Amino acid sequence: PLRADETRTANPSTLTFAQPPHVIADGHAVAAGYDARVLIRWGDPVTADAPAFDPGHLTAEAQEKQFGTNNDFIAFLPLPAGSASSDHGLLCVNHEYANAELMWPGLTRQDQKILSGDQAQVEMAGHGHSVIEVKKTAGEWRVVADSLYARRLTLRSTVMAMSGPAARHPRLRTKADATGARVTGTLNNCAGGKTPWGTVLIAEENIHQYFSGAPEGTEAGNHARMGIKGKPRYSWGRHDARFDVEQEPNEPNRFGWLVEIDPYDPASLPVKRTALGRFKHEGAGTALTGDGRCAVYSGDDQRFEYLYKFVTDARVIHSDPAANRNILDHGTLYVARFEDDGTGHWVALRLGDGPLTAANGFKTQADVMIETRRAADLMRATPLDRPEDVEPNPVTGKVYVMLTNNTKRKADDAHGPNPRGPNPYGHVLEITPAPGPDGKPDHGAETFTWDILLRAGNPTVAEHDADYHPATPDQGAWLAAPDNCAFDPRGRLWISTDQGSKQHKNGIPDGMYACDLVGPGRALTRFFFACPRGAEMCGPEFTPDGETLFVAVQHPAEGSTFDAPSTRWPDFTDGVPPRASVVA
Ligand code: FEO
Ligand code: CA
Ligand code: CA
Ligand code: CA
Repeated sequence: PLRADETRTANPSTLTFAQPPHVIADGHAVAAGYDARVLIRWGDPVTADAPAFDPGHLTAEAQEKQFGTNNDFIAFLPLPAGSASSDHGLLCVNHEYANAELMWPGLTRQDQKILSGDQAQVEMAGHGHSVIEVKKTAGEWRVVADSLYARRLTLRSTVMAMSGPAARHPRLRTKADATGARVTGTLNNCAGGKTPWGTVLIAEENIHQYFSGAPEGTEAGNHARMGIKGKPRYSWGRHDARFDVEQEPNEPNRFGWLVEIDPYDPASLPVKRTALGRFKHEGAGTALTGDGRCAVYSGDDQRFEYLYKFVTDARVIHSDPAANRNILDHGTLYVARFEDDGTGHWVALRLGDGPLTAANGFKTQADVMIETRRAADLMRATPLDRPEDVEPNPVTGKVYVMLTNNTKRKADDAHGPNPRGPNPYGHVLEITPAPGPDGKPDHGAETFTWDILLRAGNPTVAEHDADYHPATPDQGAWLAAPDNCAFDPRGRLWISTDQGSKQHKNGIPDGMYACDLVGPGRALTRFFFACPRGAEMCGPEFTPDGETLFVAVQHPAEGSTFDAPSTRWPDFTDGVPPRASVVA
């Protein structure tokens, strides 16, 4: 129902749905008149031979065939391929991480680093990606059983290729792989993107958490810059030498990439595309440049890290998807430099440019790609407040950057694109690429202008220093920690949030918020979907017709344990733990 105060003044937004209660609860909630149903949960079958979920007896062998842990990014790819179907397709879903304390009894969060070898194997099998076939019948989405497309990609067992400038370089070689061109698995897959030729890019983000051992020798500085400091959150290095940098100093160099997968071909080899750089990739937002090449935007999600853009050398050939197969291996990686006057430009990370020389340890372009962060430091990129999702709006060509928060920014370091120090609530940056010959924003341009769409936080609390449309929250709802985003067919922005451990303090749930970007409702955020307690919202993805929004509820009951979960969403059955799930 409408909130009482919504009748007070006319709502200037084009979004007119009645908002659900803006409160933290055991269950999920959605705007009145909409259905929100769980489609697939952690442990549900993916491949035809998958056993049923058995929470009292988790095994790596079962998890290899079941929906993985902590779903994040979601891509919808229509079936048949190339169609605009909105009732039949593939869902491609990332599994970012594992929270052992909610998977097994008797554990606290700190115990993750002392798991048994068998438990570590379950975690490895839970990481990665799932491809499932989904179909809408009589208004309800269901997973198609025994689909020929169904596939699990896991950290533990899925062989992948590495291509591009860093592939085959000695710094990518290990005892298990003398070629530097093959790697088993993908790690900490956060968000991602879809390419114009029908493949999916999945991002490798917080890879540092998995590596134990003291970094030393020639890779020590490189590992330290990626946060590998001998203090892993996971136990894996105790059970598997490849996660111990003292035994395999090059293994971390094989993670931190964007991985391209072809969900339409379940036998295809995933490929880590090293031309797009190595850092803590949040996601991969793609768009065509004015002359038909592919641009890929990606944020490096850590405090004071950077925003990147890759542009292919070659044009996308729409009539021949196979011709684009290796298009991401050749192009230019740029990092963003913002000026406080509202302008900015993309600085190429190219061997030989400025300080990117052998004198600084960059002997080949492979070194620039392996140590992208250090190259960007030297090129004086602008440190931002944790760049999460970066997505080009397909309707307007403007680019939206979710800057989730940065509690470490000092007040005297607040400036231009980082207007608050500290910044516990985050903000949304709007980038307008310089126009091409047709006058429209051109994703190939090396210059841009920028603006701040909104500063998150509660606008009724002065010390938050929030800034939205003035009718927020009378007609809308405030948000904190923007993380992922999507656009509906009209080009309106849909924002998912991740407050992490601050959810309880802020007193609002994570979920989906939406706002106009143009017109009288610009930056008036309205609340559409509430996550259950402890969960963050990931993966917003619309079907082409905008009738269905798929979302990923990640880590329900975070902050509690298997023995005493703060919610048992979505099953609400004694003995069954909370389970991250996709909701349609
Ligand atoms: Fe995995 Fe940047 O969130
Ligand atoms: Ca997450
Ligand atoms: Ca994220
Ligand atoms: Ca997140």
